[in-house]
This record gives sequence, C-alpha cells and structure tokens, in this order.
Amino acid sequence: MNKRFYITTAIDYVNGAPHLGHAYEKVIADVIARGQRALGHEAFFLTGLDEHGQKVQQAAQAEGKPTQAYVDELAAVWKTFAHTLQLSNNDFIRTTEPRHKQVVAALLTKLHAQGDIYKAEYRGWYSWRQETFLTHKDRNPDGSWDPIYGEVRELVEENWYFKMGQYQQWLLEHIEANPDFVYPDYRRNEVLGFLKKEPLADLCISRPRERLNWGIPMPFDPDYVNYVWFDALTNYITVPASQGDPAILAALPDLQSQISNPTSQISLWPADIHVIGKDILKFHAVYWPIMLHAGGLPLPRQIVVHGWWQKEGAKISKTTGNIVDPIAVINEWGLDAFRFYVLRELDIGPDGNWTDSGFAARYTAELANGLGNLVNRSLSMLHRYRQGVVPERSTELAGDAATAVDRVRRQLATCELQAAVQSVWTLVARANQYVDHTAPFKLAKDPAQAGRLDAVLYNLVETCRILAVLLWPFLPTTAGRIYEQLGCTGVPDQLALADWGGAQPGHTLGKPEPLFPRKEPSRP
Ligand code: ME8
Ligand code: MG
Repeated sequence: MNKRFYITTAIDYVNGAPHLGHAYEKVIADVIARGQRALGHEAFFLTGLDEHGQKVQQAAQAEGKPTQAYVDELAAVWKTFAHTLQLSNNDFIRTTEPRHKQVVAALLTKLHAQGDIYKAEYRGWYSWRQETFLTHKDRNPDGSWDPIYGEVRELVEENWYFKMGQYQQWLLEHIEANPDFVYPDYRRNEVLGFLKKEPLADLCISRPRERLNWGIPMPFDPDYVNYVWFDALTNYITVPASQGDPAILAALPDLQSQISNPTSQISLWPADIHVIGKDILKFHAVYWPIMLHAGGLPLPRQIVVHGWWQKEGAKISKTTGNIVDPIAVINEWGLDAFRFYVLRELDIGPDGNWTDSGFAARYTAELANGLGNLVNRSLSMLHRYRQGVVPERSTELAGDAATAVDRVRRQLATCELQAAVQSVWTLVARANQYVDHTAPFKLAKDPAQAGRLDAVLYNLVETCRILAVLLWPFLPTTAGRIYEQLGCTGVPDQLALADWGGAQPGHTLGKPEPLFPRKEPSRP
C-alpha cells in the first residue's frame, strides 16, 4: 500500500461564520494539495470543524439553540463555504462525529493505561460568568478583576493531566535534528526558544462534566469530558484511522473493529503537512508531537505556519466592523480573483494587510490587463487571422515557458506559493511583451509575413495552453476556462502537460471570452 501525500488545515471553531483568515488558510492548503497532484502524486487533503468546548457551547446558548442543532446548522454553512472556495478536500471532519470520538477514546485509553495521564488538584481563580479559570494576566493593574468576569472566586478542582514534561528533551532533539519540521524557520526558532526557556508543564486535558458537558467523555472517568485541544488535534489521525491506515492501527489496535470499509484501506499517516496559523503553533509543534510520540505514532513531517491578515492596517474584528467577508468578495469579483489576491499578496509566514484598493489594483493590472488580456488577444488574433486554426509549431517562447514550468514545479514542492504565482506572471508578462514586440496586427497586413505571423500566433497559443496548466493549482476555474477556450479536452491538472508543443497544428480553437471583465472604478 503506497502512502499518499497527506495535508491538513486547522479545524475551525464553529462559533460563527467563516472569515478571511479561515478562507486564506484553506486556499493555501488547497493549492499545495492540487500542486502535489499536478506533480503526479496522490494527495489526500483534509479540512473540517472543531465543534466541542466552551466557546461553541456558549455560542449555542447565546442563540438559544441546543448545541448539537447549532453545530449541525453551522456545519452546513461551512461545508458550503469549502465548496465555494473550490477546495479539493477528500474528506471533511467534524469532531462530533462517532468516528472521531472513537479515536480520541482509544488514544486516551492507551495513554492512561501507560500511566501518561493522571488526576490532580488544580487551584485557581475562576470566573463563573465566563466559565473559565483566569490568570494573573487577566487582572487589572490594581489587582482587581474586570466586571466582564462577574464573580471571581478561588476554586479547587480535580482534573486529568497529560505528562508532557518527560518528553521535553526528546522533542527538542527532534526539532533540532529536523530543520524542516516547522516552516518557516523563524517559527521553528520560536518553538526551540520556548522549549529551551522553561520546563514544560503537564497539560490539563479534562473538565468536570458538571461545568462543561459539551465534550468527549473521558473513557476511564465518566464524571469528566476531554478538554478541547487534545480532542481537536486528534482529528488529524481520525480520518486515516477510519480509512484503516496501517500506521495508526499498529499503535491503536482497538480501532481495528471500527473501520467502516476495510476493503478500501489507504495509508496516509504520518501527515506530510499540517497548515496552521501562527497563534496555534505551540499546540501543533509541542503538544501534538508529544501526544503522538507517547501514543507510539510517527510524527508529521512538517508544520507550515502562516501569518495573520489585517484589514486596512488594523486588526480584523467583528466588534469594530473591520472585516473582510470572503463570500461578498467572491460574489463581487469571482473566486479566482480572491484566490489570486491572497496568494499573490502574502507569502506563507509573515502577516498580511488586505486593502480594498490593493485588491482592485491587482485585479486590474495582473488579472484583467495581464493574464486576461493576453489570452483574449491571442485567441482573438488566431480567429481573426487564421480562422481559429493552430498553425505549424514554433519554439520562440519555449525557453521562457520551460523556465516558468521548472520554477513552479520547485516552488509548489517547497510551499513557496507567492513566488510560484510570480513565476507564472513572469511568463504572462513575457508573452504580452512578445505581442507588443512582434506586432502581429502589422504582420497581418503584409502577405509576405504570413509565415512569421504563423510562428507568432503559435507561440502565443501554446504559451496560453501552458499557462492554463501552470495556473491549475492556484486558479482552477480560470485554468479550466482557458483550456476550454483553446478547445482542449479534459482539465489541465497535470504539470506533465506543460511540455512545449502540446497545441496541435490544424486543431481549431474554441471561442474567446473575457476571463476577468474590467470593473468600473469602485465608488468612494
Ligand atoms: O484555533 N488571519 O480555530 P479558529 C489568518 N479550532 N489566519 C487566521 C486569522 C487571521 N486574521 N484568524 C484566524 C482554532 N486564523 C482551533 C484550531 S486545530 C487542531 C484547532 C486561523 O477558528 C488560525 O490561525 O480560531 C487557525 O489556523 C485557523 O484560522 C482556525 O482558527
Ligand atoms: Mg482562534
């Protein structure tokens, strides 16, 4: 059984509607997954929802709905959103599903039996209104508690703890020995700094049922539910386990009897890439590897950490109304304009700043006047001067195309998505410059230049075809439309199709249609 490339996203809390940050993360994971498939590998892409815990329970209460009904309703919205983004995900995990609860219970049972989980007393300041323990950081400068916390009392509570401290040195050595484990490297340095600074505390992984009942029961103690990060992180092995993944069944053999379809087993674990945002780095680069190691499971190969978006230079916030509604943007500008902007504007790693004017400027310059104009004028000229029939082959732009293809292949494999988009647009710019330099509209007026015009048109049409192939992971709709306008069959989903010469002399093109209609300047 061949192991497939396995990539995941963070699973989003279902306590509201999807926002720009959620959409961005899912798009970059989708591009990496499509990129792997285009490179000829089988890839499995997982995304989904984090449905347990206090935040979700409180959000349901605020709407006066039973928690399960609340998450079911929202899950439908989020699944539609994944579809709107054209994510090529192979499964969609919800942590309230039975298949997930089984895996969490199996992992907890194993760790408990080994003695890695113990019960202990916790003493702390508890806010009854917010239903959470507070720390000294939550105090006002004068030591008082903000009124938003309501009554704050010292509370002693027993809970279950996971012994993490004993694995600290092992993890430090693992991350030092595996420079690619966290990408980009400054995030890796953050994790190393954290691990070197202080002893790792054991992790509280339960809540008493009387305080929080919206969670997975602790299998060895019915008075407690599992608390949220242990549950959430485990999603990454739930789906492989439900597919009968041999690496997981070897470590958690009790799951054998629970596999839905043992005949279609696939091998996914360990994950190749977990894509996450910078705020949840510690959970993924410290807690998760330790959970896996303690459970006898192999570690993921890489954690890819993206930055956070702001809008117009300020924090995105529902309360101040400083938000980007991805669905509104997609409705107005089209999905590929959205995908293009986030990929082109922000490299994986640093923080980004969405500006409406920057969005409109990139749309006009790079999509409408750049790619859209190239494809439209190339195809229109072929129709006008050659009745849409592809002329004899010529190789004038073959070198430029090959350079772009080589770069994109490499950059897709190394998750340099912004650079990959730039590589594609270098070819767009080169081809537009070629139109200006060769001036086919002048050549067309001189019968003696017919051969030269044939050559120019072939180079343009073939470059457009290769662009469709290169664009597939990033802008799948546009890639498909270019392919269709060229009269090609199927979808350009394999980079192997990007070899020069694929456009067949004598073949008749389809009808050119604008890919990115120019927009009126937006109202002030
Ligand atoms: O943290 N810009 O869920 P979540 C970019 N359920 N990314 C952003 C962002 C922004 N402004 N805001 C949020 C959780 N994100 C947990 C994850 S995984 C086992 C459990 C990213 O809904 C954030 O960094 O709060 C995270 O990767 C993802 O959105 C989900 O955030
Ligand atoms: Mg969050």
